Amino acid sequence: MSSSLDRKQQAWSALFSEPVDALVQRYTASVGFDKRMATFDIQGSLAHARMLAAQRIISAQDLADIERGMVQIEQEIASGAFEWKLELEDVHLNIEARLTQLIGDAGKRLHTGRSRNDQVATDIRLWLRAAIDAIVDQLEALRAALREVAAAHVDTIMPGFTHLQVAQPVTFGHHLLAYVEMFGRDAERMRDCRHRVNRLPLGAAALAGTSYPLDREQVARELGFEAVSRNSLDAVSDRDFAIEFCAAASLVMVHVSRLSEELVLWMSQAFGFIALPDRYCTGSSIMPQKKNPDVPELARGKSGRVIGHLNALLVLMKGQPLAYNKDNQEDKEPLFDTADTLLDTLTLFADMVRGIRVNAAAMEAAALKGYATATDLADYLVKKGLPFRDAHEVVAHAVRACSASGRDLAALSLDELKALNPAVEADVFEVLTLRGSVDSRRVYGGTAPSEVRRMLSPD
Ligand code: ARG
Repeated sequence: MSSSLDRKQQAWSALFSEPVDALVQRYTASVGFDKRMATFDIQGSLAHARMLAAQRIISAQDLADIERGMVQIEQEIASGAFEWKLELEDVHLNIEARLTQLIGDAGKRLHTGRSRNDQVATDIRLWLRAAIDAIVDQLEALRAALREVAAAHVDTIMPGFTHLQVAQPVTFGHHLLAYVEMFGRDAERMRDCRHRVNRLPLGAAALAGTSYPLDREQVARELGFEAVSRNSLDAVSDRDFAIEFCAAASLVMVHVSRLSEELVLWMSQAFGFIALPDRYCTGSSIMPQKKNPDVPELARGKSGRVIGHLNALLVLMKGQPLAYNKDNQEDKEPLFDTADTLLDTLTLFADMVRGIRVNAAAMEAAALKGYATATDLADYLVKKGLPFRDAHEVVAHAVRACSASGRDLAALSLDELKALNPAVEADVFEVLTLRGSVDSRRVYGGTAPSEVRRMLSPD
């Protein structure tokens, strides 16, 4: 069958007098990566065709033929029988050519009132909307996993750090819930970004709109878009929605990377706080004793890749005059890879986190090493009437006495403490212990088990 789209130089018009150079063809083609938008391309085409028929721009018979052809094409793609052709450049021309091959002239009428410029913008938005939904689901799954582990460790004491120095005791449950908050904001950002992704460009045509009486609202309704774009030049050219998604994705990966860094540290011999399930670690080819936390290390590394994609899209956009430019074809690989990386990472993490084994004794021993209750002693003295700065000074002396003798603050005798300041009484030991310190931090959002328990319930 001699479709006019079979030979690339005729894909646009008879204007071209020589075939495209082979390397140019490979350089300019996007079908290798944009074919993964095929289902959305077909969805968009069907909605467009139904509207064209409703507006009597094409006949009911044309629509029936298009619908029949698309069913077959979907099956061919799903079964792997569809033959993707590089010379047909992209997913749009490949599907259209096959449609025309299958149903004849009706296939050629599908593109009435449409351009690949508004078509591709529509496809990316549909694809990204689905990707966002999957990512939000995975973010919630990871949060559920973190909450589960946190619930089991509401009372497990560990050192809380500032400057990576032991600062004050916290609970492991509280620490994990910090990530539940971060990933919660990430999910919120994704949901918010979805509103701006979810607008219909179709109808913008190449750049200026079209003279056909299109019913854009009908297409938007059928495709589940919240609104129709209000400016045709903007609709076909801006990719800010993809950039915004990559920015939100970068923040997800920054949070993943921080968690990864902690997992790696905690799993090191120097900390010994946790063990990760073996299925998330690998050994060394030379050092038989090694068990390396490869998954969090790689996730930390992949955050660089996602942040790189954000940068790539920003730079891709910044020099483009209105309206569509072929530069925009470069938006897809970074965008796809960003979504793929996020989905894989979040899926792995939800399972891995559930498998964390905690060495509570090591956590507690580490908390005992750093005079983590020094602030509690100062607060105790303040409650006994000392100005905070004086209390701070007294505690500095207490810490000095302890470090000279290699003891924790709670190991000082009442006499030793009284010698530092006469206001000290026997009840001081209630705050000097790790447990007493943690239990006392009952302010809303604090580390006391009662508060952590409150924050366990999904928001
Ligand atoms: N493959 C193209 C892209 O990804 C589709 C739009 C092409 N439009 C054009 N006028 N060449 O952007």
